[in-house]
Amino acid sequence: MEAHKAFATKKTPSSILAKGLGAAALLGALTLASTSVSAKEYFTIVDGALERPTGYREWVYVGTPVTPNDMNNGKAAFPEHHNVYIDPESWTHWKETGEFRDGTIIIKELVDVGSKAAVSGAGYFQGHFIGLEATIKSKKVNPNEPGNWSYYSFSTPDHSSLTETATAFPAAACNACHAAAAADDFVFTQYYPVLRAGKGTGELAIGGVSSSLK
Ligand code: HEC
Repeated sequence: MEAHKAFATKKTPSSILAKGLGAAALLGALTLASTSVSAKEYFTIVDGALERPTGYREWVYVGTPVTPNDMNNGKAAFPEHHNVYIDPESWTHWKETGEFRDGTIIIKELVDVGSKAAVSGAGYFQGHFIGLEATIKSKKVNPNEPGNWSYYSFSTPDHSSLTETATAFPAAACNACHAAAAADDFVFTQYYPVLRAGKGTGELAIGGVSSSLK
């Protein structure tokens, strides 16, 4: 048993490496081939409705604004935490160019304020998931909208579940604030430290590469 284990641990790394290299080379070739044809989009529109995206908690997380009721006379417009994610290809484009590519999707997952106390002190801690919103930038889908962005919500009115699809809000219902006050191309990058620090900074955008805290 012991001998078998030792043999297995000795053998595994080199065989994995050999297989891994072959697969990596193949994957590299395929990726190159596919990106030169067309960049992948992380959303699907069918008959004018956006299908609920999946997998976004594994995209790139950019920040969590919160405007709690307690700090807004008990009735904030958006009282919950907003966990914001951008799709991976659009993140790559952002860190390389400092711009949102055509085909960007940004997700805002709503999480209510749960506990307001921890052993570390008083604060706002995340409670339950209560909704999902999205914005997409697409010339094809939104040829006439400002910046080609459109805005969606998958939250049900009682915030207890999510819809399968969402149709775009009329632009004016959502993007007046975004047009007036967002720092970059209708997106509130000023509140997302990962996007702020990563804007056009290439490899530095991934964090930990330099000793700078920017
Ligand atoms: C009162 C101003 C205001 C209105 C109206 C508004 N937003 Fe926003 N939105 C913000 C602010 C400020 C942020 C960033 C901070 C935050 O999340 O609180 C934001 C962020 C977002 C984000 C994350 C990406 C980004 O652009 O920063 C999405 C998605 C979003 N809003 C969707 C919507 C939708 C859908 C509507 C219409 C139903 C809407 N917003 C209407 C102010 C507004």
